[in-house]
Amino acid sequence: MGRRVKRAIVLAAGKGTRMKSGTAKVLHEICGRPMLWYVLQALRAAGIQEILVVTNDEVQAFVGGFGVAGVVQHEQRGTGHAVKVALEALSPVEGGRLIVASGDMPLVGSALFTSVAGSLDDGGAAMSLVTARMPLPSNFGRIVRRGADAVRIVEVRDATPAELEIDEMNAAIYAFDETELRGAVEHLRDDNAQGEYYLTDTVAHFVDRGKRVRPMPCEDTAQLLGVNDRVELALARAAMNQRLCAQHMRDGVTIVDPATTYLEPELRIGADTVIYHNTSIGRLTEIGERCTIGPGARLSNAILGANVTVRESVLSDVAVGSDVSIGPFAHLRGDAVLADGVRVGNFVEIKKSRLAAGVKASHLSYLGDATIGENTNVGAGTITANYDGVSKNETIVGKDVRIGSNSSLIAPVTIGDGALTGAGSVVTKDVPAGERVAGNPARPLPKKERAPEP
Ligand code: UD1
Ligand code: MG
Repeated sequence: MGRRVKRAIVLAAGKGTRMKSGTAKVLHEICGRPMLWYVLQALRAAGIQEILVVTNDEVQAFVGGFGVAGVVQHEQRGTGHAVKVALEALSPVEGGRLIVASGDMPLVGSALFTSVAGSLDDGGAAMSLVTARMPLPSNFGRIVRRGADAVRIVEVRDATPAELEIDEMNAAIYAFDETELRGAVEHLRDDNAQGEYYLTDTVAHFVDRGKRVRPMPCEDTAQLLGVNDRVELALARAAMNQRLCAQHMRDGVTIVDPATTYLEPELRIGADTVIYHNTSIGRLTEIGERCTIGPGARLSNAILGANVTVRESVLSDVAVGSDVSIGPFAHLRGDAVLADGVRVGNFVEIKKSRLAAGVKASHLSYLGDATIGENTNVGAGTITANYDGVSKNETIVGKDVRIGSNSSLIAPVTIGDGALTGAGSVVTKDVPAGERVAGNPARPLPKKERAPEP
């Protein structure tokens, strides 16, 4: 068994010129997270305890938020220079092992980091590197071999026509003996086509000094996609999304059309939930068992219980109980809380409101800053007029209330348990429990129209 590699350097300071963007390349998102997030996540999953990211100012702010260290490379003078900057910031560990990875390869799985490190130890080498057979032509650096060892990596822009025929490529995932690497970076030179210090030149450096460099061929080349422009960004997103969908499908979720189901990492989705096409499910969402989501649903930061149906609707920052039906065409946002058995129908918007168990708001309503009691029915077209031009006001409706169609509830206002508002009521004053009101402004209905007292 080899010694466990516990430290990694991630290169993420490059300009990413081909993105043609004001945003640093590694911060461009795939499936709701910056590319760099996936690399850091995979390294953590491989058991790497200390990660140092070589950054620019913009990336530095992100890595701080993620909880790993960053060091700013002020001038991008090549991958070899980036590693040198990192080594200056890392406390030396004699005989230590270091993984070096790139921040623009979001699909690399943690197992590959583990195995490249393992291959370093097995061979007693100074360096091991992941290589892959790829179709030609290619922009990857080429591996020049002598038998089982790599003796040199040649970058495309420095390669001879014969070297360009080599189809074994440098994937840019490495494991190094730290002491050897510290020595090697001091010897790098920038006398090449790009005028950069190439990390890849460390291979020839080691071989010249009688050290071994072990290539570790990787069959699953799909994970080696590097993102250099927005075409590759889209390819990486599709591949990552497919992977996320596959995980949930294996865990018992039916995804009818993974190609049009957009997921993010770290979602929780219960077994026997069915997700239909054109649905995106984002950040911090948790969905219970036996739910039906979509078609056409967009969820972010939504907590759903079991057996919830969401069709053609948008939910963000909401908590929903079990046996709830939402949509089609509902918009729930900003701390909407729906208890068990609630039904919200078409063209209903709910913001910062609590609907107790069994409440129905089936058609054409706006409920904002409202609290609605158990089993109350909110008639079609009901509006809480929550904004008086200065501040937001609350509407409180009791249980078993019947709000007539087209009622306007002018907040702040309270409607007591069992009350009723007639169709078209404009409710400007509190309504006591059991009272029946109608009109504009709403007034109590004459006694004779009242239901007999119990
Ligand atoms: C590099 C390799 C090449 C390999 C390819 C695989 C070198 C010289 N070449 O080329 O052999 O086939 O990756 O994708 O290493 N970076 C910095 N600071 C710098 C320069 C780069 O942090 O000064 C970072 C970039 O942000 C990027 C990574 O290093 O994340 C790789 O740099 P890039 O310029 O993309 O190298 P490639 O040309 O892809
Ligand atoms: Mg690259």
